[in-house]
Amino acid sequence: GPGGRIVIVANRLPVTARRNDVGQWVYDRSSGGLVSALGGIKNAKIVYVGWPGVSVPDKDDQLIITNYLWQKSYRPVFLDEDLMDQYYSGYCNNILWPLFHYMGMPQDCRFKKSNDFESQLKAYEKANEMFAEVVRQIHKEGDTIWCQDYHLMLLPMILRKSNINMKVGWFLHTPFPSYEIFRVLPDRVKLLESVIQADLVGFHTYDYARHFVNACTNLLGLDSCPQGIECGGRIVRVDAFPIGIDARRFGDALELHQVKEKITEFQNLFAGRKVMLGVDRLDMIKGFIQKLLAFEKFLEQNEDWKAKVVLLQIAVPTRSDVPEYRKLASQVHELVARVNGRFGTLKTTPILHLDQTLDFHTLCALYAVTDVALITSLRDGMNLVSYEYVACQESKKGVLILNEFAGAAQSLRSGAIIVNPWDITEVAGKIKIALNMSAVDREKWHKHNYEIVTTHTAQDWAQNFLRELNDTAIKSPLRT
Ligand code: UDP
Ligand code: G6P
Repeated sequence: GPGGRIVIVANRLPVTARRNDVGQWVYDRSSGGLVSALGGIKNAKIVYVGWPGVSVPDKDDQLIITNYLWQKSYRPVFLDEDLMDQYYSGYCNNILWPLFHYMGMPQDCRFKKSNDFESQLKAYEKANEMFAEVVRQIHKEGDTIWCQDYHLMLLPMILRKSNINMKVGWFLHTPFPSYEIFRVLPDRVKLLESVIQADLVGFHTYDYARHFVNACTNLLGLDSCPQGIECGGRIVRVDAFPIGIDARRFGDALELHQVKEKITEFQNLFAGRKVMLGVDRLDMIKGFIQKLLAFEKFLEQNEDWKAKVVLLQIAVPTRSDVPEYRKLASQVHELVARVNGRFGTLKTTPILHLDQTLDFHTLCALYAVTDVALITSLRDGMNLVSYEYVACQESKKGVLILNEFAGAAQSLRSGAIIVNPWDITEVAGKIKIALNMSAVDREKWHKHNYEIVTTHTAQDWAQNFLRELNDTAIKSPLRT
């Protein structure tokens, strides 16, 4: 058949396969902002290439999973245990992820004793080759290949080498750090040289795009131009495409009977107390420790609030094979216990912390009933939880406390209380302001946010990126 499809290549597929108690394969919706945003795109011509989230050594099992995914237009890439270790847990999440979020490089880059930096890079190359191989198998003339995120930085180069005329875009869902941070990475040149093989390179914000262009001029000696970067007579477009959510999906969910029931149930559960909500993967970039310290300080300074406020924190399990994440989990648990021990009463516990994934309806109900969303990321590409909270607050008009280090702070800054999460005293003070904000102010701020969240959707994001990619690929002179 003809091409013209959009092939989205991302490390993680929208669903994660899992074996249930009786040994059958079942599929859960995957967590995280990338999956949420891509799920908001409506286009019949999308094919996904990605990893089903689990190691499947057995060929028959692989076939069962492939058949199921195939009907959904998902094409799986099976990574073995060693690749999951060295590529996913190692190079992606122990090296690139912390570095791109200004958390530095681990002192010892070895993720396990036997895995050195070099073998992790090899695994990263191998994994990128495997994604490329699946793309090659399904590619047809006229298709657009859209590579996603830091897992697949070598993909544009591999694809370009195998087919010079392929239309290729690459979008980063994390921050792109300042050159001074990025230059630390031993493989910095290799990664940049690959990414600029794409026709269009996209980021959430202009700052990230600028950092990327700076890295290319400094490390590759290329010239920048208004559209991006000049590279051997070709122009690589570099631009900002702030992502959004499928706001209608949330609005619609709130109309459902079962969600309304949950809302009533939660209202009764929390009656007489104000609820502050946090929803984050249990990741060091989300500023859990800073959030807990700020809440503790708030209670210290406002003892009268201790039985009247709850911090409800959903800590979505994530990347638990990486030692740093496990360390974080125990630090967080210790702090939660300390605050609850200090400020709990016989009838109330100030922090309700759940290490769980929520189903969509429960999540919507919680977004709708809570008084404040408290988002304290230390760095965050965009942060879609802030958008989702706003999308569910049409009736309550709750307050959004948002850190200045999330991409979302650029779009929601005039409708949110913006904080520096490192400034514990400031955050504690802002919690008080949020809890006491007048209905008139809440309404005004919410209106501002709601307008943005409903007019800058995931659909718009994808359309803008793909339109620009299409224009660029048509205009670009023949490659040499
Ligand atoms: N989310 C999820 N499972 C949950 C709770 C939340 O998948 O149990 C979703 C949430 O709705 C949001 C995404 O995870 O769409 C988090 O995206 P965000 O951009 O805030 O951060 P990321 O996890 O991508 O760093
Ligand atoms: C972030 C990344 C995504 C990733 C998500 C969840 O949003 O940008 O690429 O899918 O976190 O993390 P995971 O490692 O479970 O895919």
